[in-house]
This record gives sequence, structure tokens and C-alpha cells, in this order.
Amino acid sequence: MTLTNPRGTQDILPADMMYWHHIEATSRTIFNMYHYEEIRTPIFELSELFERGLGNETDIVSKEMYTFMDKGNRSLTLRPEGTASIVRAAIQHPQLTKHNQAKLYYCGPMFRYERPQAGRYRQFHQIGIENIGNAHPFTDAEVISLGLHLFDELGLPGLSVSINSVGCPVCRPVIQERLKQFIVNNLQHLCGDCNRRFDQNPLRILDCKNDKCRTYFTGLPDIHKSLCHDCKDHFNSVVEYLDSLGVPFEIDPKLVRGLDYYTKTTFEIVSDKLGAQNAICGGGRYDNLIKKMGGKSTPAVGFAFGVERAVMVLKEFSEIINRQDPLIFVAPIGFNQQTRCFRLMNELRRAGLKCEMDYSKEDLKSQLKTADKMEARFCLIFGEEEAEKNEIILKDLLERKQDSYPIENIVDILADKILKR
Ligand code: HAM
Repeated sequence: MTLTNPRGTQDILPADMMYWHHIEATSRTIFNMYHYEEIRTPIFELSELFERGLGNETDIVSKEMYTFMDKGNRSLTLRPEGTASIVRAAIQHPQLTKHNQAKLYYCGPMFRYERPQAGRYRQFHQIGIENIGNAHPFTDAEVISLGLHLFDELGLPGLSVSINSVGCPVCRPVIQERLKQFIVNNLQHLCGDCNRRFDQNPLRILDCKNDKCRTYFTGLPDIHKSLCHDCKDHFNSVVEYLDSLGVPFEIDPKLVRGLDYYTKTTFEIVSDKLGAQNAICGGGRYDNLIKKMGGKSTPAVGFAFGVERAVMVLKEFSEIINRQDPLIFVAPIGFNQQTRCFRLMNELRRAGLKCEMDYSKEDLKSQLKTADKMEARFCLIFGEEEAEKNEIILKDLLERKQDSYPIENIVDILADKILKR
């Protein structure tokens, strides 16, 4: 039996790489403009980090973590998201917050044992930012607007932004209580998850994706009315600053997000080009997480987006041109010409040109076929006749024309054609 990749994982094949590179390179450029620096943390961490950081009641911690015991009997978990690790690193390395703030970005694989479907995987990739140390609502607005700036630059169409406030430890109990009062009479109609959440974390009921449950959420009391003074002010300021930046958004009082660390602002960016898994990006403020994880009380806000989902939209709807460097196929005719061509390839590559040769072939026809299959742009043909004259034929496979040149000039000629375009 042949082996395949595990369920919920994907091989990212060379044909898709240009989308990945485009996303990664654009993200780095934009993050740099906003003065974020890259951080790389381990792919596995102590399980306790996520249990404490994300909350035991979350779907991620209760159902979706890849947890295992290592040979030293430590419980480790493949990271399901990036925020908890960044917070751990910020606490562990005080030099990161020496100016009382750290603006960090990260990219890499995350792991969640979810039911795979289009746009939902067990190993997926996130690119995210964490802005640590800034309580000002400008920061929330800037982080959201940065996300949109990045997606505009990537060329992702059909996006919309939803924002909400989930309050803080002062007003959250009031919100939870009002929600319970609203829901209690219909509890018997709601799913098992909602019933469990009713006691443990009623706010998360609003995150239920079950259509039947959602019909019972219409007419929900305005949770913004239950926000404390500070959270209300903060939310109104974020709204005002987003307006001033011209960021289009909707307020969605049901947007509570699936992670317990959020306080005040939560937001999501969805794409109408994706199916059921339409959230490209999610984030929010988490002012209590750093203290909870053992650090000094420090406000923070951030987001992460799913790279696979961004790739899905780009592949279908954008017109990124394949900016791959043109390939030069080097075709010696006959055994005697091979060594000179082998050396020529070395010269071409040292000059920054991409080239390839098929060591197993000596006749021109089959080499031209290979060049065609490899979608080479140019072919250099070097036969006995050319060797005698110290020349080489340059065939332009796109424009279908060819000329002979002195072999010692060919690297410069191609460099002029390709690199100075
Ligand atoms: P999240 O909403 O769980 O937030 O994930 C962020 C994004 O990752 C989602 O919007 C989605 O695009 C992508 N994603 C999540 N799960 C999967 C999956 N199974 N397959 C494919 N893509 C997926 C967080 O992870 C927070 N740490 C974001 C954050 C950063 N909040 C503050 N700072």
C-alpha cells in the first residue's frame, strides 16, 4: 500500500509556491512599514502554556490539541496558534519589551485536530502580529487597518470587517448574566455545546455555528449596553478611529471569537469568496493574558490570518503574474560537447541566470522536447559545428527565432536580456 500524507495536511506543490511567496513577502514588507519585527518560536510548547493561555473550555484546548508525552515524560503540544507562544517569549526575554512595547510578527504552521474540509486543515499556516504594551485604542484601529492594508496589497477581493467588544473582567459577568437571562428559556432547544457553555462560559454560546441554535439568538439584548464605562469608551474610540482612517466595518455583537483571552475589542475579516470557512483573519485585544501567564500586567492586541485561505482566494480571483525567472535550457549535441556546456551552466548560474541541462540526452530533438516540457524560455544549442567556430546558438522559444553568438559572450548577452529587463 502506498503511503499518503496524514488527513487534514497538504503538500504545497511548486506550482502554488508563487502565491505563498507573494503572501509571505508582502506581509514582511507591510509589517516592516508598521515597525514590527519577526520572531520565531518553537512548533511545540509545554501543554500547560495553551491550557492556561487559551482557556480549558475552548474547543481548541478541550478537543483539538495535538498533545503527546515526550520521552522525558513532559506533556507537549503542537502549537494550535501563535499568541500564547509570543506572550511566553515576551515574558521570558525581557529585552523584547525594554521600550515597554514589543511589536512582533510570526509565520508558520499551526496544528488543530479539526474535521477537515475546504479551507480547514489539521496543519495550516498562520501569519500574525502581536502588539504588546499599548493600551490606546489607536492601536486596535491601527492593527485592524494594517490587516486590511496587507490584504489590499495582496490583492484579496471581497473582504469585510466585523468588530465587537467582549468587555473586561469588570463588565463581562454582567454581560454573561444578561445573556443567560435571554437564553435560559430556550436552553432545551440548543445543542449540547451551548448547554455546556451556558454554565461555563455563556458568552461563547454566541459563537455556535449550529443554524438551529442561531435562530434563538435573534433579538439578543445589546451587549454593548452592558459594557463598563472604560470598555464603552474604548470601543467608541476604536469605532471613531476606524472611521477616521476610512476603514469600512460592521459592528457584530455576536462576534465573541473562540479563544478565552480576549478583552474589549474582537474583530474578524471574512471573504465572500470562501465557502463555510470564510474567516481569513481574526484577532483582538488581550489585556489580561500576559499577567495571567506570569508577566507584568501589560495590554496587547493582535491578529492572525490563515495563509491557506488567502491562497485559495488569490488562486481563484487574482491575476498575480508568474514572476518566475526565465529558464535557459542548455542543449549540447553529442557527447563531446557536454563538458563545455556543463561549464557554461556554471558560468550562467554564477551570473545569476537560471539554467538546466539534461545529462542523459545527446540528440537535439529530444532535448528540445524536454526544454518544452520544462517551459524553458531560451535554449542554447551547442553542436560540433558551433564548437569548431567557437559559437553557440541562442534560440528564443517564445518568439521562435534563433541566432548564433560567440560562446564567450553568451553569458553577458543573456544577462543583458534577462536581468536588465
Ligand atoms: P483564530 O481565529 O483561531 O485566531 O485563527 C486565525 C485564522 O487562522 C483564522 O481566521 C483562519 O483564517 C486561520 N485558521 C484557523 N484554524 C484553521 C484551520 N483549521 N485551517 C485553516 N486555517 C485556519 C487565532 O489563532 C489568534 N491567535 C489570533 C490572534 C492573534 N489574536 C490576537 N492575536
